[in-house]
Amino acid sequence: RSPIVLDSDPGIDDALALQYLLGTGLWDLKAYTSVGGNLPAEQTYLNARALTRAMRIDADVPVHRGTGRPLTRLPYTSASAFHGKAGLGNETLPDSTAAHLPESSAQALLRLSRDYEGELTVCATGPLTNVAIALLEDPAFAHRVKKLVFMGGAAQVPGNVTPVAEFNIWADPDAAEVVMSSGIPFTMVDLDASLRWLFRPADLAAVEAAGAGTALAARLLRVYMDAYRRHGGGDACPLHDPLAVGVCADESFITVAEGAVIVESASELTRGKTVFIPSAAQQVYYADSPVLTSRRAVTGRVALGPGPRDFVK
Ligand code: BDR
Ligand code: CA
Repeated sequence: RSPIVLDSDPGIDDALALQYLLGTGLWDLKAYTSVGGNLPAEQTYLNARALTRAMRIDADVPVHRGTGRPLTRLPYTSASAFHGKAGLGNETLPDSTAAHLPESSAQALLRLSRDYEGELTVCATGPLTNVAIALLEDPAFAHRVKKLVFMGGAAQVPGNVTPVAEFNIWADPDAAEVVMSSGIPFTMVDLDASLRWLFRPADLAAVEAAGAGTALAARLLRVYMDAYRRHGGGDACPLHDPLAVGVCADESFITVAEGAVIVESASELTRGKTVFIPSAAQQVYYADSPVLTSRRAVTGRVALGPGPRDFVK
C-alpha cells in the first residue's frame, strides 16, 4: 500500500472520498489534514475528527487542524447550502477520542513529504491553502511529493460558484496559483470531469441496499442529491471529491491533457478562473504574451472530460 495524505474540507463529498479511499485498500493513509472550505476551518477539523471515528480509524490516522483563512483574503462564505449546516448533512457524529495534535496540516504535509520522499501522494479535495503554505515554507516540497491530485478548477466548462470559477479554487485562488506555478507534479480533477460522472437515484438505491457499512454514506448521499435537486441539478449529483481519490490510483476515470494552468486572482469578477493552456498550443498562445511566457515551464495534467473507465459503477 502506498503512502497518501488526504487534505480535505469535509463536506459531504469529502466524507465520501475518505470512505472510498479506505475502501479501495490501496492506500496507507498517513494523515487526514483538514482545511477551511465548505465550512470554516474549526468545523471542518471537527468533522474530520468525527469521520475518522465513524470509520473506525481514529486510533490509526492522525487528524490535523488546517488553516482558518485563505492566503491573502477574508474567509469565504460557506457551502452549507450543499453540505448541511455543520457540513455533514443531518449527521451529529461523536468526536474522535484521539488527542488534539499541535502540528498543523501544513506542518504534517511537510514532515510526511520528508519521511516518504518520492513516494507520497497528496490528494486535496478542498481549497489548496494548506498545500500552498507548505510550498511557501519549503519550496522543495514540490519535488519531494510523488504527485498531487486535487479536485478543483474548470478547464473548459463554466464554474459552479461563479459563472467562471469552481469552488475550491475560488475560495483561495492565491493558494491555487502558488501550487500550480510551483513545479509540483499535479493532476487537476476539475468540473470538466466531475460533472460528467453523475450519481443517480438508482445508484443511491444500490448503496442503500448494500448494508450497514454504507449506511452513513447512503444518508450523506441522499442529502447531497436533494441539495443538487434544489439547486437545479435534477435527479443526479456529481461525486467531485471521490473522483479525485479514484484518479490517484487510476487516471482512466478522466481524459487528461498536459498543460499549464494560470489562476485569475486580481479580478473579483473572474476570481478563481483556471485558464488552461494546453502544451500543444503553447507556441500559438505564448507568441505575444509576456504573462504566459513567464509561466510556460510549469505544466501539469488536467482533466478535460470523463475517461474510458466508468467511475460511478
Ligand atoms: C468542490 O466544492 C466543494 O463544495 C466540494 O466538496 C468539492 O470539493 C466542488 O466544486
Ligand atoms: Ca471538498
